[in-house]
Amino acid sequence: MKSDKASLIQELSSAPNPQKILSAVGKPGLFITGTNTDIGKTTVTAALAGAFRRLNIRVGVCKAIASGCPKRPDRGDGEQLRDDDLLSPDAALAATMAGLDPENEQIMKVISPIRFAAPVSPHVAAQIESREPDWNRLATAIQYWREHCDFLLVEGAGGWLVPLNRRLFTIADLAQILALPTIVVTGAYLGTLNHTSLTVESIRARNIAVAGLVANRVPIERDISVQSSLDELPHLMHTPMLAVLPEDSQVSSVHVPENFINALEPFARRWWNNLSSSEK
Ligand SMILES: Nc1ncnc2c1ncn2[C@@H]1O[C@H](COP(=O)(O)OP(=O)(O)O)[C@@H](O)[C@H]1O
Ligand SMILES: [Mg+2]
Repeated sequence: MKSDKASLIQELSSAPNPQKILSAVGKPGLFITGTNTDIGKTTVTAALAGAFRRLNIRVGVCKAIASGCPKRPDRGDGEQLRDDDLLSPDAALAATMAGLDPENEQIMKVISPIRFAAPVSPHVAAQIESREPDWNRLATAIQYWREHCDFLLVEGAGGWLVPLNRRLFTIADLAQILALPTIVVTGAYLGTLNHTSLTVESIRARNIAVAGLVANRVPIERDISVQSSLDELPHLMHTPMLAVLPEDSQVSSVHVPENFINALEPFARRWWNNLSSSEK
């Protein structure tokens, strides 16, 4: 009988290697990561999509890999799940804000190419479903957006170093291949200086540009810990605070309020205007 180590090595060497399948987007865009899951990446991606759309820029959105996806109501139980049997609520919100139809299954394949059901890290969700992330679907999605948008927003999953498969290929590895500048979504809570520093330092260690921070779910009542976080974050990270988004009961998995788009529009305009004509 093979040792555990030998069988793991064999298993890993037979797993699809995203490094060989994926390549740089080669278009203007941004990769949206965050200091943690649930920090507001989808909310910020959707608001940014709304902002770029307002500027009449053809914006594409891609939730590269999603876990925690509910099953389509028309798919039966007991069968092996496939990506298209699942729905991605994150992608549906971003699609709507980008002016794309979340009911259109064909477009959703390129907006949310890789989907898993369990609400856990993608590599664990993949193991539960006994299937690997299908990197060819992501490669097809990127190819589609290369041809069909002027600016691409890619939302990560979880935080920066979340593993995506058994090879322990991470969101950071994915962002490095796609080669887009990143936005770090963070918060103004006690502990944010440490969480944000860890994320920003790790992004820069890979020679990926940090476009800036967005502070989300900022309490309306700014006590000393909230205010000092907002003051300190851009200085300590040497990067601008692109927007401060408040805690807002109107935000939901299907809605982003207008004032969030307003808050991000100046950044979107500036970023687009600063791109050289050869980049566009
Ligand atoms: N500014 C906000 N005010 C209130 N609720 C928010 C805000 N931003 C996000 N949420 C809620 O928090 C949850 C996580 O946000 P989401 O954008 O999905 O995070 P992520 O994509 O990083 O996991 C969602 O239920 C969302 O509606
Ligand atoms: Mg999300």
